[in-house]
Amino acid sequence: MKSLTWQYDEFKQVGKDYGTVDEVEVYDSSHSDFRDIEAESNTVLDTLDLQSGATLVDFGSGTGTFALQAAKRGLDVHAVDVSEAMIANAKLKSDKAGVSNIQFHHAGFLTFEFPEEHADAVTTTFAFHHLPDFWKGIALKRIHKMLKPHGQLYLHDVILEETKALENIGAMIESQAAAGGDFLREDAEMHFRDEYSTYDWVMDGLFERAGFRIENKQIEGGVLGTYFCRKA
Ligand SMILES: C[S@@+](CC[C@H](N)C(=O)[O-])C[C@H]1O[C@@H](n2cnc3c(N)ncnc32)[C@H](O)[C@@H]1O
Repeated sequence: MKSLTWQYDEFKQVGKDYGTVDEVEVYDSSHSDFRDIEAESNTVLDTLDLQSGATLVDFGSGTGTFALQAAKRGLDVHAVDVSEAMIANAKLKSDKAGVSNIQFHHAGFLTFEFPEEHADAVTTTFAFHHLPDFWKGIALKRIHKMLKPHGQLYLHDVILEETKALENIGAMIESQAAAGGDFLREDAEMHFRDEYSTYDWVMDGLFERAGFRIENKQIEGGVLGTYFCRKA
């Protein structure tokens, strides 16, 4: 995107600061209290069903678990994150695993430059909520350009159904606290207070206006959204 003086600064961490080594070092163990990232990654990769050698871009790649599983399947992986500390951690993991088919990029949804119609799939998990809604729309249009015709987009994040939103958020915060005590309670509270999770009807419109067809959508507990989309 041509640089705008008023462009949203996606390198400035909002809410949880994933730019710090301290946060990065506790990430995998704190998330293992409520999710199995490796199993999740393999379920997504099974569904995407890409051929070995296909090109996949993972935005907000974090500690790199998804990128590593994708690389182990022979995909040509681009792991993109605005946090240098996250990239360093993920790179260490992939070096240890002896994997060489991941390229790491210090960039984000709004700044990553990639050739047009080059990616077979784009994935992003628990990262899209870092952008305010207007910029989510811009990001989806950029992703659409990167994808080959009929390319796939998988997005998983905190996304809210409107009905009983406040009750569902309260229940999610309690369930996080039950899984990981005060650390995960504060994490979840900070998420809703300071970050940019939005309604599913907003997301539906943004996907469609950016040129995607929603092939599968699920909102678990009214708060956790999973979308499989295809470039229309
Ligand atoms: C909650 S972590 C998710 C990491 C991983 N995808 C996972 O599922 O565990 C969010 C990640 O998104 C990154 N991030 C934040 N804003 C971003 C942006 N605009 N573009 C790309 N990555 C971003 C953060 O640095 C962090 O590594």
